[in-house]
Amino acid sequence: DEQKAEYRARIKDLLQQRNAVLVAHYYTDPEIQALAEETGGCVADSLEMARFGRDHDADTLIVAGVRFMGETAKILTPNKTVLMPTLKAECSLDLGCPPDKFAAFCDEHPDRTVVVYANTSAAVKARADWVVTSSMALDLVEHLDSKGEKILWGPDRHLGNYIQKQTGADMVMWQGACVVHDEFKAKALKDLKKVHPDAAILVHPESPQNIVDMADAVGSTSQLIKASQELPNDTFIVATDRGIFYKMQQLQPNKTFLEAPTAGNGATCRSCAHCPWMAMNGLVAIADALEHGGATHEIHVDPELGKQAMLPLDRMLAFNA
Ligand code: 13P
Ligand code: SF4
Repeated sequence: DEQKAEYRARIKDLLQQRNAVLVAHYYTDPEIQALAEETGGCVADSLEMARFGRDHDADTLIVAGVRFMGETAKILTPNKTVLMPTLKAECSLDLGCPPDKFAAFCDEHPDRTVVVYANTSAAVKARADWVVTSSMALDLVEHLDSKGEKILWGPDRHLGNYIQKQTGADMVMWQGACVVHDEFKAKALKDLKKVHPDAAILVHPESPQNIVDMADAVGSTSQLIKASQELPNDTFIVATDRGIFYKMQQLQPNKTFLEAPTAGNGATCRSCAHCPWMAMNGLVAIADALEHGGATHEIHVDPELGKQAMLPLDRMLAFNA
């Protein structure tokens, strides 16, 4: 509508004025994803967001996603201004892995290589040997396992279990979970598959093991989008945040995409296949961030902590180059 068009125009102006670029995740609202694409920004999975932000020559990055994504951008490019539509956009994996407790867990296992998921705070990353995202975690653990390294993994237990099962690596795990993916239900998925026997099932590996076990493709958001283009099926059942449907449908307008069932059929589930923190990102907040920056929008990472966290992040980007 008219007001939204106004905000879109204002954001475009502000991006230019500030030499800023919009970096958005696939779980954000379609209008944000579209705007990022229109303005020369990117819509991506968390690994690609990190790389795009690092390599872009803008002075300011505006990161539409959740806080760890903004922090990662700041750690990788401390001289850029990194803004977020809201600093209140958390992630249950990050919240469920307090740095002091995680450090104590690491101290109990000094002989293990510490591998942490990108969905963590700067302080947790600073304690890690490696940072991974869902798109390259399996390859990295395979590599470390082949060198005989024992692994301490955190914080997502479902992703950890999936990787452990695939690689047979020796892993001790932090027991975190994503509130969105944890809601997918195997029995209901089986029932849905019976109704659509020709559908392919696409699963993000933050989902529980019994959901991953039914998958035709498992991967990061970008990898699932790719699978939806490459698999021959006409129908897909998708077990991840429903924000991803925008891009899938845009790339494959003639295919059918169905949500994998969650706990309460919409009535009682906590997150119903949409991340409550990703949902906090909106056009008004983006305009406000670009206009006012400052305390409510700018990401700061302690420079010392940032330096430590940069090492495992750089390793991640180099491993996957
Ligand atoms: P991707 O790296 O697959 O985009 O995942 C990020 C995330 O938060 C999934 O819930
Ligand atoms: Fe975190 Fe889950 Fe939201 Fe991704 S979907 S940002 S893992 S809470």
